[in-house]
Amino acid sequence: MDNYPFASGRSHLQIGIKPLSEAEWIDISAAFAAELAEKERLLQERHAEVFVALPESQTAQQETLTLLINHLQTYAPELYRHDHATLVNQQTGQIWHRNEFAPLDLAGRLVQEDWVLLRSGQQGYILVAGSVCFPLRWSLPAKLGQPMTQIHAPVPGYQSKLSRPVDALFDRLKPGFPVWRMNWNIVDTPELFLPPERNQQGQNLTITDENAGEKLWLRRERQSLRRLPLSDHILFGIHTYLFPLQQVVQQPGMAAQLAAAISQIPAAIQAYKSLGLIQKPLLDYLRQKM
Ligand code: HEM
Repeated sequence: MDNYPFASGRSHLQIGIKPLSEAEWIDISAAFAAELAEKERLLQERHAEVFVALPESQTAQQETLTLLINHLQTYAPELYRHDHATLVNQQTGQIWHRNEFAPLDLAGRLVQEDWVLLRSGQQGYILVAGSVCFPLRWSLPAKLGQPMTQIHAPVPGYQSKLSRPVDALFDRLKPGFPVWRMNWNIVDTPELFLPPERNQQGQNLTITDENAGEKLWLRRERQSLRRLPLSDHILFGIHTYLFPLQQVVQQPGMAAQLAAAISQIPAAIQAYKSLGLIQKPLLDYLRQKM
């Protein structure tokens, strides 16, 4: 799986879907324990911002949790011990009593992936539940009950170029055949929880071509999609990774590829991605590293 999607030359408004093997559905990275702790903190302190569910989603939530636990039993059998009442994370020592949580809330606590459940409706696919601790400047509660076109309303070109192909892709998804795609951004903070009000990055005057490597991060989302066989919902998984820019540019050719990709982003998408004033020092920095 490529770590750096811009390296493939994919443009921004492409679906860019590839098949995902069952073994790769969940990724347990070196940040596992730290990110699970951060999720627990957010779910405790700001629950209404990071977990939402319509009552109708209960069956699909339960199906998600069962699928995830079965998956972990198979592919990471040493990680969790569980019975019908409790789940124990053997790496972090966390213990959860199942009846204290909505099933999707619990599914969000077990792995680094964030989760969204969608079902087919008259206006396309509707968001019916989510456990999203690591949003990139968007609000989960604001998207509850919305169809995909409305969820993506702030994304320039989504409505005209992506909406129909994405809905058609969802229609074609078959249980047992997950797929994945990648999204990437440059951000000026290593914080994973970025609500919409944290959208000042484009006005950040402190980034220079000298400090861009220390003050900017490549933020990559590995997104998975699968159809649940019983409830017929779509389960969307988002695993967020952060790489310090100074680490990214150490890899041969990366500074040049990233600079090329950023220069090619259309103006409306540059604005959407909050590049703004950081774009020039960022490009100057990357060119020095080529
Ligand atoms: C094949 C499927 C999908 C495609 C092609 C797609 C495409 C995109 C694109 C191009 C962006 C802009 C990202 C950027 O450049 O930074 C975006 C943002 C976003 N996507 Fe998707 N997406 C897909 C599936 C989903 C699903 C299933 C959800 C479920 C909720 C979702 C929720 C969002 C949200 C919340 C944003 C941020 C919107 C905002 O700024 O308010 N996407 N998506």
